[in-house]
Amino acid sequence: MAVRCEQVDLAGYTTLRLGGPARCFVEATTDDELIDTVRRADREGEPLLVLGGGSNLVVADAGFPGTAVHIATRGASVAAFHADRRRSDGRLLVRARAGEEWDPFVARCVEEGLSGVECLSGIPGLLGATPIQNVGAYGQDVSETIVEVRAYDRESGEVVVLDRDACRFGYRTSAFKGADRHVVLQVTFALEPADLSAPVRYAELARTLGVEPGERVPLRDARDAVLGLRRGKGMVLDPADPDTRSAGSFFTNPILDPDQLTDLEKRVGDRLGPDAVFPRYPEPDGRTKTSAAWLIDKAGFTKGYGRGPARISTKHTLALTNADGGRTDDLLALAREVRDGVRDAFGVTLVNEPVFVGVRL
Ligand code: EPU
Repeated sequence: MAVRCEQVDLAGYTTLRLGGPARCFVEATTDDELIDTVRRADREGEPLLVLGGGSNLVVADAGFPGTAVHIATRGASVAAFHADRRRSDGRLLVRARAGEEWDPFVARCVEEGLSGVECLSGIPGLLGATPIQNVGAYGQDVSETIVEVRAYDRESGEVVVLDRDACRFGYRTSAFKGADRHVVLQVTFALEPADLSAPVRYAELARTLGVEPGERVPLRDARDAVLGLRRGKGMVLDPADPDTRSAGSFFTNPILDPDQLTDLEKRVGDRLGPDAVFPRYPEPDGRTKTSAAWLIDKAGFTKGYGRGPARISTKHTLALTNADGGRTDDLLALAREVRDGVRDAFGVTLVNEPVFVGVRL
């Protein structure tokens, strides 16, 4: 296990390429190394940052005044693919370590004829991060397939297994998000052995595939269509293209209760005229999700907006990007301007989606 206390810049470990140095940096290649590092930090009262793929992370320019442990635990998923553990509902259990890269894992599932994560193709980052924010896209999220998370519990000092209920999944959230209590070690997915995707739910994806919502398509077609859509929105990382240098969606899509919805209808009408319509997605609890990208755009922050290195992507309004030479403070200044502008125009306060380390909006 390599422990380096010569101030490693965290910018190299985030997809935004932002963030100052950590006081100590540890690369953990096994679960034991990971647990030992966390135990030591907790014993010594040392602040701890668990780093995955860094694709959903905004780190302060000042860096992190503690130990950053980079999860590099790999190698278990291949064996798991042959374990062939079948549940009573016919789904197969696939277990993988936190340090596996997510997209190669999805590609492998598609190749092996396992259905349930294909719409989550092209998402950067590590598998162990997916339960934390209940990663979702194109009508799927991991809460539908995760059955178990094995984690180190920093409160009890034990390795624990959480079932799906204990994970308390919600829209872009879970029991793990913001709590820092658990360090994810392994995740178990229950996937359907099938050559067809799960029923396509996202209207844009169904249109791209030329099917009706609810139909199923060959797994590979679903993956290819999602990758194409994501690329078009700058949501597939391309090191050569600063327009993709982001943390994905910078804000969550607001979920409004009926009063807030009525207020938004009025403000949209006042601002854009009586015929203006805004995106509405009904939630099971009676509330309504709307589109942060739409609100940002209509508040006047269009694609490419920004000064200097921090800009709204030219491909998607919800991705804030960082060009060469940028600092976290530049990005945050843009994020605050966007949040305040949307609040002034529409009375909705956008909330950041990525995890913030040492910074706030
Ligand atoms: N829109 C705009 N301008 C844009 C893009 C979108 O006005 O530049 C409006 C349109 O009305 C569009 C609607 O926003 O119909 C929805 O856009 P999109 O399908 O791109 O999805 P999103 O709501 O912006 C969410 C997730 C993404 C995920 C996509 C696809 C959140 C915060 N974001 O984005 O997840 O890939 O749906 O399912 O829920 C992420 O979390 O980092 C992420 C990329």
